[in-house]
Amino acid sequence: MNESLEALRGEVLDRIQQSNSEMEIEQLRVEVLGRKGKLTLLLRGLADLPAEERPQAGQELNQLRRVVKEHLDERLKVIKEQSKERALEEEKIDITLPGTRWERGRAHPLTLVLDEIIDVFWGMGFEIARGPDIEDDYHNFEALNIPKDHPARDMQDTFFVSNDRVLRTHTSPVQIRTMEARKPPLQVIVPGAVYRHDDDATHSPMFHQVEGFMVDRQISFADLRGVLTHFLRQIFSAETGVRFRPSFFPFTEPSAEVDIQCVICGGKGVVSEGQSCRICKGTGWLEIMGAGMIDPEVFRFVKYDPEKVSGFAFGMGVERIAMLKYSIDDIRLFFQNDLRFLRQFG
Ligand code: PHE
Repeated sequence: MNESLEALRGEVLDRIQQSNSEMEIEQLRVEVLGRKGKLTLLLRGLADLPAEERPQAGQELNQLRRVVKEHLDERLKVIKEQSKERALEEEKIDITLPGTRWERGRAHPLTLVLDEIIDVFWGMGFEIARGPDIEDDYHNFEALNIPKDHPARDMQDTFFVSNDRVLRTHTSPVQIRTMEARKPPLQVIVPGAVYRHDDDATHSPMFHQVEGFMVDRQISFADLRGVLTHFLRQIFSAETGVRFRPSFFPFTEPSAEVDIQCVICGGKGVVSEGQSCRICKGTGWLEIMGAGMIDPEVFRFVKYDPEKVSGFAFGMGVERIAMLKYSIDDIRLFFQNDLRFLRQFG
C-alpha cells in the first residue's frame, strides 16, 4: 500500500473513532464513500494507472473501502447504543422516592357539634332557616318586645354598625323574619353567628347559636319540654336529667332556663370526697339554653293572632355545648386555629 493511502486510512479511522453522533458518521460516510467521496474518486482514478499496477491498487482500495465501511457501521452501532443508554438514564423514574403527602383535613369541632344538633332537630321535622348577621334595630330588639329603654340593649353588649344597625346579638331576629314571611305551622331551627361585646375564657365576641321555634294551633309548654328533653338526651346521654327553671326573656312568656345534669359529676355536685365540682360549682346542674312560649306581643308584631296560634322558642350556644361535650375549658381555643387542638376532633 502506498504512503498516501496509508495516511488516508489512518486519518479516516481516527475520525470515525472520534465521531460522537449519528450525523457525524453519516457526514463521514458521504465524505469518504459517497459518490464524490475520497475513496470513490481514487477507485475511479484506477483507470489512469498503468495496467500492471491496477489489480494490486484496486485490491488495496477495495479492502480499505470495506474496512472503512465496517468501522463506520461499528461506530454507528456504539453511538446508537450510548444514546439509548443516556435516554434511559435521563428519563428514569425513581419509584422508591417518597411521594408528596396529602394532608387530610377534618371538620372543626364546632362544625361537628352543629351538624349533630341539626341532625337531631332534622329528625323531629324541623327545617333550617338563616338570617343576616347585620340586623336592624327592629328585628334584633323592637319586634322581640325589647323596647328602646330595655336593659338588654345595654351598649356594653351590642356592637353597633350604625345608628339603626347592629351585629345581631342573638339568632332570635330570624324568628321575626320567618314569621313575617310565612304562615304557621312553622317548625324551624336557625344556626348562625352572633356577636356580643364580651371576651374571656367562656365568652367570645363572636359565637354561635341555634335558635328554634315551633308555631301552630295549640302548641304548649309540654311540646317544648318534649322536644328539648329529647334533643338534650340525644346530644349528651339518654340518662341525662333535664330541668326547666323559671326565667325571663322579653320575647317569651312564660320563660325558662333549661339545665342538664352536670356532665362531669353526673349531678352529684362533688367529684371526690368532699371536693365540689368545678364545672357546675357544686350545684349538679348546668345551664344549657333559654326557652319559653312565644310572647303574644311578638305575635302581634308579625301580625299573627295570639288567640289562634301559640308557639315555643329556644336558643342555645353552640360553643357552650361543644365545651361541655369535649371538656374544653376555654372558648378561645375554637378560634385560634391551633392545629394541635383541631386535630383532636373528628
Ligand atoms: N335569644 C336568647 C339569648 O340570646 C335565647 C332565647 C331564644 C331565649 C329563644 C328564649 C327563646 O339569650
